[in-house]
Amino acid sequence: MATNHANGRAGGAAERPRAFSGIQPTGTIHLGNYLGALMNWSAMQDTTDGIYCIVDLHALSVPREQGEIRLATIEAAKDLLAIGIDPERSILFVQSHVREHTELAWLIQCVTGFGELRRMTQFKDKSESNDFVSSALFTYPALQAADILLYDTDVVPVGDDQRQHVELTRDVAIRFNNRYGNDDEPVLVVPEHRIPPAGARVMDLQNPEAKMSKSLDSPAGTVNLLDTEGEIAKKFKRAVTDSDGEVRFDPETKPGVSNLLTILASATGGEPEQLAADYTQYGPLKADAAEAVLELLRPVQKRRSELDDDQVKAILADGADRARAVAAGVMDRVRDAVDLLR
Ligand code: TRP
Repeated sequence: MATNHANGRAGGAAERPRAFSGIQPTGTIHLGNYLGALMNWSAMQDTTDGIYCIVDLHALSVPREQGEIRLATIEAAKDLLAIGIDPERSILFVQSHVREHTELAWLIQCVTGFGELRRMTQFKDKSESNDFVSSALFTYPALQAADILLYDTDVVPVGDDQRQHVELTRDVAIRFNNRYGNDDEPVLVVPEHRIPPAGARVMDLQNPEAKMSKSLDSPAGTVNLLDTEGEIAKKFKRAVTDSDGEVRFDPETKPGVSNLLTILASATGGEPEQLAADYTQYGPLKADAAEAVLELLRPVQKRRSELDDDQVKAILADGADRARAVAAGVMDRVRDAVDLLR
């Protein structure tokens, strides 16, 4: 893989792959977010240099209540710190604090095809469910590509739903390099996605054919990061299964049971197919899945309750300074490559 880290790596530090990912500040994190991508963010801190971004500008691509975005940004930062993003080891920051994101986004849009953006399934889904479709919703993936490319990112840990956006990022980075770089010196690092196998798709407990999501409006089917012990136990107890009574991993014909196995597997680090052999009845499977999730969330909830706003704001300010230092170096290289007048 072409790596091109000369501009922006902390001097002298051992070269570890750089991970970058982003999350929209749009309300509480749920189990689908956590098992699908976020658990991986904190685990990857052992092997990569992580840069984690709260993408407030992306969140504004659909209408928000006045004041909502500021509060939601702090809440998202708390969630990320609570799940184990460690500001000593990783950079945690807010997208709008680093102006280079929107600057690079424009240059990326100049090499992104209208047709490419029109094929994005997230755009199709979101534009169908909103009355007002902003042009930002359409160009959203170009801003996302800029987020990633601005930091010479090697790997992008995301959930399965972001696969297409990361593919697009690769395509436009390669096009940008073809246009503005040469073989010896690519301008942008072409990143890869990293999608966790088991937990990539956690389904709604009440409607296991649909992904667990905050937009589904299915409170009984969505387990939130801050749910109480009682709520979690109840949601698993009432999880929709099927009537054939056999515990088997088969997402096609047994979506509910398979989802419980997926959750149990991701929470305990096992394999859903193998775990199925341990059970002959749904009741104990539900109980064990609930217990595993509780065990996972208890320390997260405790850490979250200990964070205060001023402390979090200071962490984000420091993160923005560190992110800006990397971004400025990459933008310099990009401006030179594009040959903008100095
Ligand atoms: N589009 C992502 C989502 O909805 C959020 C995001 C924005 C992101 N920029 C990113 C994810 C860069 C990874 C890398 O979840």
